[in-house]
Amino acid sequence: MALVTVAELARAAAEGGYAVGAFNLNNMEILQAVIAAAEEERSPVILQASQGGLKYAGIDYIVAMARVAAESASVPVALNLDHGTSFAQAMQCIRQGFSAVMVDGSKLPFEENIALVKRVADVAHAVGVSVEAELGKIGGTEDDIIVAEREATMTDPQEAAEFVKRAQPDLLAVAIGTAHGVYRGEPRLDFERLTSIKNKVDIPLVLHGASGVPDEAIRKACQIGISKINIDTELRVAFSGAVRKTLKDNPGEIDPRKIIGPAREAMQQVVREKMRLFGCSGKA
Ligand code: 13P
Repeated sequence: MALVTVAELARAAAEGGYAVGAFNLNNMEILQAVIAAAEEERSPVILQASQGGLKYAGIDYIVAMARVAAESASVPVALNLDHGTSFAQAMQCIRQGFSAVMVDGSKLPFEENIALVKRVADVAHAVGVSVEAELGKIGGTEDDIIVAEREATMTDPQEAAEFVKRAQPDLLAVAIGTAHGVYRGEPRLDFERLTSIKNKVDIPLVLHGASGVPDEAIRKACQIGISKINIDTELRVAFSGAVRKTLKDNPGEIDPRKIIGPAREAMQQVVREKMRLFGCSGKA
């Protein structure tokens, strides 16, 4: 089937009390791993391309690969721009065929973030593309950050309500204690804050930086009202671990298919486990 929007998948997830997994796409093997897992789990799925992914693979390849995957898959597939940096980039992705865009104005002052998201949403909604925004700052790695600073970077529930009303995104990424990349300590999620945001905001909420977050915390976040969960780092760990093992066991191996094939299987297994954890298995 054709690509569907992230909003459509996330709204169904919000109603059903589960979250849809969003996995970062950089090459064909990642794509095949994610789609094979979604088919096996009968799960809807979100593919997304970050700035690094677009630079590495090129926007044409990303869109073409995702389109082929969606058209041949028997489960719903969305293609999202992850952490879009500007109005121009969002427009480029919409024109190229993305079904959803995230525009990340979280580093901008509040009013400028609203203005950027509203401008993108006005155009995106006119052509049937959904929009994710971010309020609060989701860190890179947060070990050096002291508690007062940590709180100051988190999403404020009252601000979130005003932001959503005025900027009109379809989804909101919230900062509640997660960070992108590998955690050095155990991440502590602020569930009270999440509950308060959920009570004030009536669109699906997104959890970034979910790799390495304990299963129990992910389950609780889904129960409270997270409807989309982003995973990138755990795919990288699975990929690189499998490649290292293959080359260690077979130092003379030169066939890329024999080196990357097991990595694809390892990523597929990670995606399947995440889909069961998020509750989106069986929801296609
Ligand atoms: P991780 O790399 O921590 O899985 O985060 C992915 C993410 O949030 C992409 O936006």
